Amino acid sequence: MRKDIAVPKSELDSARKAAERINNNLSGRKPAYFIETYGCQMNEHDSEKIAGILESCGYVPSESKAGANIIFFNTCCVRDHAEKKVFGNIGALKKAKDEDPSLIIGVCGCMMQQKAVADKLFKRFPYLDMVFGTNELHMLPNLLEKVLEGERVELVRDMEGEIAEGLPVKRVEGVSQFVTIMYGCNNFCSYCIVPYVRGRERSRSVKSIVAEVEALSQEGAKEITLLGQNVNSYYSEDENADFPALLRAVCKVEGIERVRFMTSHPKDLSDELIRVMAEESKACHHIHLPVQSGSDRILKLMNRHYDRKKYLSIVEKLNSTVPDAELTTDIIVGFPGETEEDFEQTLELVKEVGYSAAYTFKYSPRAGTKAAEMPDQIPDDVKKDRLKRLNDVVAEGLKRGNDKYIGKEGVVLVEGCDRRGEPMAFGKLPSFKMVYFPGDESLIGTMQNVRITGTAKNSLMGELI
Ligand code: SAH
Ligand code: SF4
Ligand code: F3S
Repeated sequence: MRKDIAVPKSELDSARKAAERINNNLSGRKPAYFIETYGCQMNEHDSEKIAGILESCGYVPSESKAGANIIFFNTCCVRDHAEKKVFGNIGALKKAKDEDPSLIIGVCGCMMQQKAVADKLFKRFPYLDMVFGTNELHMLPNLLEKVLEGERVELVRDMEGEIAEGLPVKRVEGVSQFVTIMYGCNNFCSYCIVPYVRGRERSRSVKSIVAEVEALSQEGAKEITLLGQNVNSYYSEDENADFPALLRAVCKVEGIERVRFMTSHPKDLSDELIRVMAEESKACHHIHLPVQSGSDRILKLMNRHYDRKKYLSIVEKLNSTVPDAELTTDIIVGFPGETEEDFEQTLELVKEVGYSAAYTFKYSPRAGTKAAEMPDQIPDDVKKDRLKRLNDVVAEGLKRGNDKYIGKEGVVLVEGCDRRGEPMAFGKLPSFKMVYFPGDESLIGTMQNVRITGTAKNSLMGELI
């Protein structure tokens, strides 16, 4: 839902002034920053904003932690190991900080929205300079200014998650760019921490999204991926626009050749969206549609609001309307109470759908979520065994799915060139399949007709036509 809640202008103005002051005080010196990012594309994109803000303060990028004067960790907390890694990483920087006390270390992102974790981290590592949450990103210059004056700062606010439009963004160069269309999540799947750390759903306006896409197109972007935890519930109240309407509007932007989107929740995937995918030539024929489990009993416990039958009916509709569409998914094994029989239903579903990629996870209890309190938590060795069996089934389906491309032709948007051996250009078909074919850097950013000649583990091999 669009709740028109913008970050107060006074905060944006104050941050801009702080950035100017930092810049002036540097008087031409160019200290370097390094950002390590965990988690999903939303976090990656937030890191692009952090980079943009730091550059507006006069900082320049560093290739490594070793060469940096300021190091940020943009954290994730969706699964347990992400947390452990961050604690380990900050511990490992003690020596560097002892050697150079002017080194600034900061931690931000989803994990910091859990106040108890932020406090623990701030106390445990006295040499940590700054901790802030996802709602304070735009205030980074103000926080940095305090740190440069010798303070330690911790700021994590409970907010609706107001949207800060117009922040400077330092994008990873490339023809393919991310645009966040909505923030937060209202779904409260029983295993998931995201709604607690990213707050309630709020959508940006079509106007501001299209303006951003137009600007990206002028800078050379050819492919846009619209991002949100659940893009199908995008809704701009002021403009009375839902996700299919937004998708049509973005497809109209001149210079953009392809539009992707993720993630789609099966409970909200409308017939209209499938129709737009079929009608708009720029809309890519790919849906990331996390199923999580193939067992109705487990889906109910997960609070997913669809059952196996509903999920399969969407897949069927998609296949009949957009026959070359590819599906990718997320699956959790070892959810509390998952029996061998439940798990086998997941295996069956994966065989039936034939995903072209599946991101598979062992269930990881997250404090504060319903599932963490459920009885019958599954032992780790059982989770491990199920994960392995699931990955084997996914790999078989992937191989079959890749084989059917051999001999076919398609258009690849070239993203890069791999020079480890003979120069191989690579890029995706509209369906999300990655293709490698002989070619060099001069092809980057162009659309090329290729014929598929073979397959590799996760990609296709081809030749220029
Ligand atoms: N909004 C997206 C993805 C959110 S997180 C969606 O609704 O699908 C990405 C994936 O992480 C999820 O799809 C889920 O498969 C996995 N995940 C989330 N919480 C988890 C947990 N506690 N343990 C293991 N995997 C989890
Ligand atoms: Fe988490 Fe579910 Fe929201 Fe996805 S839809 S972010 S899995 S609560
Ligand atoms: Fe992780 Fe936050 Fe994304 S918890 S998965 S980085 S929204």
